[in-house]
Amino acid sequence: MLSGKMGSSNAPCNFLLVFLIGLCTLYRCSAAEIGANQTARLFVNASEASARKMPKHLFGLFFEEINHAGSGGLWAELVSNRGFESGGQILPSSISPWSTIGDESSISVSTDLSSSFERNKVALRMEVLCDSKGTNVCPAGGVGIYNPGFWGMNIEQGKTYRLVLYIRSLEPINVFVSLTDSHGSQAVSTVSIIADDVSKWTKVEATLEAKGTNPSSRLQLTTTKKGVIWLDQVSLMPLDTYKGHGFRNDLFKMLADLKPGFLRFPGGCFVEGDWLRNAFRWKETIGPWEERPGHFGDVWNYWTDDGLGHFEFLQLAEDLGAEPIWVFNNGISHNDEVDSANIITFVQEILDGIEFARGDPDSTWGSVRAAMGHPEPFVLRYVAVGNEDCGKPNYLGNYLKFYSAIRHAYPDIKIISNCDGSSLPLDHPADFYDFHTYDSADIMFLLARYFDSISRHGPKAFVSEYAVHEDNSGVGNLLGALAEASFLIGLERNSDVVEMASYAPLFLNVNDRKAVADAIVFNSSQVFGTPSYWMQHFFIESNGAILLDSTLQANSSTSLIASAIIWQNLDNSKDYLRVKVLAMSTHTFLSRKAFACSLPEVLLLGFSFLPFPSTQALNFVSVKSYWNRSILNATDVIGTSLQAISNSPRL
Ligand SMILES: *[C@@H]1O[C@H](CO)[C@@H](O)[C@H](O)[C@H]1NC(C)=O
Ligand SMILES: *[C@@H]1O[C@H](CO)[C@@H](O)[C@H](O)[C@H]1NC(C)=O
Ligand SMILES: *[C@@H]1O[C@H](CO)[C@@H](O)[C@H](O)[C@H]1NC(C)=O
Ligand SMILES: *[C@@H]1O[C@H](CO)[C@@H](O)[C@H](O)[C@H]1NC(C)=O
Ligand SMILES: *[C@@H]1O[C@H](CO)[C@@H](O)[C@H](O)[C@H]1NC(C)=O
Ligand SMILES: *[C@@H]1O[C@H](CO)[C@@H](O)[C@H](O)[C@H]1NC(C)=O
Repeated sequence: MLSGKMGSSNAPCNFLLVFLIGLCTLYRCSAAEIGANQTARLFVNASEASARKMPKHLFGLFFEEINHAGSGGLWAELVSNRGFESGGQILPSSISPWSTIGDESSISVSTDLSSSFERNKVALRMEVLCDSKGTNVCPAGGVGIYNPGFWGMNIEQGKTYRLVLYIRSLEPINVFVSLTDSHGSQAVSTVSIIADDVSKWTKVEATLEAKGTNPSSRLQLTTTKKGVIWLDQVSLMPLDTYKGHGFRNDLFKMLADLKPGFLRFPGGCFVEGDWLRNAFRWKETIGPWEERPGHFGDVWNYWTDDGLGHFEFLQLAEDLGAEPIWVFNNGISHNDEVDSANIITFVQEILDGIEFARGDPDSTWGSVRAAMGHPEPFVLRYVAVGNEDCGKPNYLGNYLKFYSAIRHAYPDIKIISNCDGSSLPLDHPADFYDFHTYDSADIMFLLARYFDSISRHGPKAFVSEYAVHEDNSGVGNLLGALAEASFLIGLERNSDVVEMASYAPLFLNVNDRKAVADAIVFNSSQVFGTPSYWMQHFFIESNGAILLDSTLQANSSTSLIASAIIWQNLDNSKDYLRVKVLAMSTHTFLSRKAFACSLPEVLLLGFSFLPFPSTQALNFVSVKSYWNRSILNATDVIGTSLQAISNSPRL
């Protein structure tokens, strides 16, 4: 099981490392502080015989379109509801959050089905009643419509934005496009669209350069000329996205910094839908963006234009250097199910989706991918049949049809079942099984031992969703993050039966909180990681690292968990030993109902780096006083530890 990572030059000998860990558990009640010191011992057996290589993709990411994670988040499109169809293809369609500039005497706005795009027929009809002269003169600045984006567009000085829209009018047009503040004044960029003949739908492209910065800007389209103008598919994208691939740079960086081994996408319940008609259907999310119908995600209750579609998810995984894991709808939603006898069209849709990802550029669906600018196949080696559907009436029947079709067409693809194989052996073939857990901090801490006792045979676990989600974790705090860290240490120790793990949900746009705790919190212009995010930083070297056998001796009043790994620094090809120790007093949990008085303020989190072999003492980082803070930044949580990384001695 050991790879070349532990090269012969520094092959570990039978060397026993013994660390003494000083545990200082402080309790605060009123103003009094009572201290109780305990000592625990950590034994690390660094012999090759006790070592085991951990999976290459052990820790990764799960992206779900929830909390406006993609639409209004990672996907950099600034216009919300660009095709005016957020109410579906019925009239009058919802144009929200677009609004009208001007009153009834000067403008009338409605929707009709005159779009040139087959799959999204709704267009906006804007009848301008006022004019530049005559009896009904338009107000200064004109009348028209504006879009505030997703709670404000972040327009930054010196950056360039690409505007694309489709326009039609029976008369010559003179439309003024501007990026203004949230009240429509203080334009930071303007451009005019002047055309004599747009009697047929005409695509207009323009670039806008920002002469000022405003994180809550809006896009305005105004005119002072009487007439009727139809508009459709209005898009504004910053040119500055990751590799020009459309991903918001700051949010992409947060993902890349976690060095994810895999990317599970696009959901979650988002994949299922409350109803099948609202589930994510990959074929509706590919091709030119303006032709995509978009859809209403009825579980998380918002419309998405599907700019972030099947292609973009594969691109995202490739850009992150992560293994893509496609979760597809298996004909089951929260409220309706396709009968297994009729599932064949769904199965074909998924085979087509795999061909789209990795077929030759001259295959039916591979050619569509190639036309989108990616002739080389994407990697796609993992798929999951549905999300949290095990036990539903048609799950097993549907699953078996997907399984045999995919196994037959793509024998190398690993197939993930929704059924939990940790408690009972699966009654169907699978390469991995899903395991989801959302629990309180105390349960999560106990779950660190869960996989110790499960069967070592059969398919391995994919812990594709985990998070502390209870009252004692607030909107994400250090207590939750520590419990999650203990869970992940447990997964490292059990990485012979756990193949992969990902936290959920990944992203939160502060303006649309659907889940309580999340890893990355952002608005139009700013982003920070919650303690759960920074916690994951402690595990970024774990993928593919060597796990050493380690045992702890401690008093029962304190719960401790530890792991010891050897990982390779690719920059200098040296191997390092990393020990992670986490202590949580049982008292923490027993007293949590009255925690204002008795919750210990210190939860000890130890991480260190030292040459190997070595007798050097571990250098612990203890994080104090932050247990109930909802927002922690890198400095708060791991400042000291980051220091330790840069100073870590070489082997
Ligand atoms: C616990 O240990 C620390 C560090 O060794 C020491 O400063 C402190 O006084 C000890 N507390 C008690 C109650 O023994
Ligand atoms: C456990 O506690 C007892 C009594 O306080 C102490 O004598 C013993 O050394 C402790 N053991 C460890 C491993 O810390
Ligand atoms: C270390 O592990 C190896 C392999 O399991 C075992 O043979 C050896 O006795 C262990 N060493 C110590 C000091 O426990
Ligand atoms: C974004 O969040 C930051 C930090 O909370 C806040 O200062 C800023 O005003 C927010 N920006 C917008 C546009 O809401
Ligand atoms: C955290 O706890 C301390 C002490 O119990 C309290 O004074 C403080 O207000 C709390 N902070 C938050 C954000 O709840
Ligand atoms: C992190 O928070 C600390 C204290 O809350 C603050 O001093 C520091 O500037 C912050 N660091 C960053 C990078 O925001």
